[in-house]
Amino acid sequence: LMTYQLLACEKDPIFMRLARFRADTHPDKVNLGIGIYSDEAGSPFVPTSVQRAAKRLPTNDFNYVSMQGDPIFLASLQRFILGDDASHVAIQQAAGGTHALRLAGKLLASQGVDQFIWGTPSWGNYNNILDVKHHVDFPHLDAAGAINFAAYQHAVEQTPHPEHTLFLLQGAQTHNQTGKNLSMEHLKVIVPLLKKRKMWTMVDAAYIGLGESFEKDLESVRYLFNSLDKVMIAVSFSKNASLYRHRLGALLVKTTNETQKSLVETDLQLQIRQTVSNPPGFGAMVMRDIFENNLDGWLSDVEAMRLSIEKRKMALITGLEGKLDYLKDCQGMFGIVQASEEQIEALASDYGVYILSSGRINFSGIPILSIDHLIRAFKAVL
Ligand code: LMR
Repeated sequence: LMTYQLLACEKDPIFMRLARFRADTHPDKVNLGIGIYSDEAGSPFVPTSVQRAAKRLPTNDFNYVSMQGDPIFLASLQRFILGDDASHVAIQQAAGGTHALRLAGKLLASQGVDQFIWGTPSWGNYNNILDVKHHVDFPHLDAAGAINFAAYQHAVEQTPHPEHTLFLLQGAQTHNQTGKNLSMEHLKVIVPLLKKRKMWTMVDAAYIGLGESFEKDLESVRYLFNSLDKVMIAVSFSKNASLYRHRLGALLVKTTNETQKSLVETDLQLQIRQTVSNPPGFGAMVMRDIFENNLDGWLSDVEAMRLSIEKRKMALITGLEGKLDYLKDCQGMFGIVQASEEQIEALASDYGVYILSSGRINFSGIPILSIDHLIRAFKAVL
């Protein structure tokens, strides 16, 4: 019999947690681990605008589009993210935000980038996606749970080999895994430093619209893209269009002229050909229809999601009478509960309440009817 010579690797902690939750027989179990938006009853949710678009799709043509993706969807996406004025933007449809990051990682490796900086706690999967050889770590939060901006500045100013380094920002204002985001004022300090040190910047914009508002969330992304030279944006429609399993994302790379743009696009298309051959199409068909026919409907659906997250977050925090007050100013889906490993384990094993081992809690997973159970669980354990 064949014996595989493999080093044992860790299974993905976020999906392991999901599997454990699914197998749990606790009658009141609640999943606040993986970043999935559920409705207020705790059921799977797809915005009405997305459901409508999906139902209207023609089903007589599922042929390949092209290695780049659907050009009409991509043009609408670029306009939506960057406005009308951006030029020489290389663009590639990807199988989700994760895949967009992976494509970017390979492109960057070909340009000599082998070092990555991001503040922690962060999304654990970056390490897998980006073939990280050197990682410069700094604390995203200070001891009081606020943004540690001095650590950001220090990381950008002091890291050696800046020209071979990628600085990864989780969507700037929208939004870090901790729910605490850099402000525009912060970005205005960081951008000149990044430029001065000729560092690369990746904006992982996976949650646009769910942070502060579409306008505010896009403002920071556009500011970074317009101000920096070596910059790219990874976009995802998993969360804000609930297209999780349909894997729709895109990569936008700033270039200096049409020749450069074409070179970058060709490289990205070759990567697509080598891996999935053509990007998945269903999600792109849905979002193309929305961009063309019902953008306002989708924007207001996402705004309602954002407000619902805020409502559920505040119901939990208020019920906990001071224990989680430091999470009040979190924006978006997540916050970090300050709890020990044992406390996080007790939440799961005694109450069926699942948050990630980092303490990350997904407010958009809270079912309204479970709030009393959650309050009981957190009061008992914390
Ligand atoms: C999460 O952070 O929970 C989600 O983005 C799911 C994933 O792919 O990790």
